[in-house]
Amino acid sequence: MSVLVLNGPNLGRLGLREPEVYGSTTYADLVALCERTGAELGLPVTVRQTDHEGEMIGWLHEAADTSSPVVLNAAAWTHYSIAVRDACAQLTAPWVEVHISNVHRREAFRSHSHLSALADGVIVGLGVSGYPLALRWLAEHTAS
Ligand code: DQA
Repeated sequence: MSVLVLNGPNLGRLGLREPEVYGSTTYADLVALCERTGAELGLPVTVRQTDHEGEMIGWLHEAADTSSPVVLNAAAWTHYSIAVRDACAQLTAPWVEVHISNVHRREAFRSHSHLSALADGVIVGLGVSGYPLALRWLAEHTAS
């Protein structure tokens, strides 16, 4: 069993993208951080990013079929994709929604998430530190 850390559109450009909002950590740094945390926890971790909604939905189906825990930053899809929401509704293992920025301190359209009501927990605004926090919680709440 591997925890899937799934990242949506534009997150591959972390470090380059609006650093005043998302910080200077690159996507490669984020992958390394998640893998390092997984190794510390003895938790296999697979980190992926896509700009394509259908690919994300396929990964969520994979997580549903394999009962894999998920850390999901669906990025902008969070705010408008019913299709991603419906894929999340099929997840069977615990999962955590993460946002790097504090979406409640930004534009009003970012305050609503179609996913939060389905997630076991939500971490927003703690920067990339939200990912290791989510992984630690999943390690404690997932049957191995
Ligand atoms: C984000 C917040 C979203 O509103 C935005 O569209 C993103 C990133 C975050 O991690 O803070 O792309 O999910």
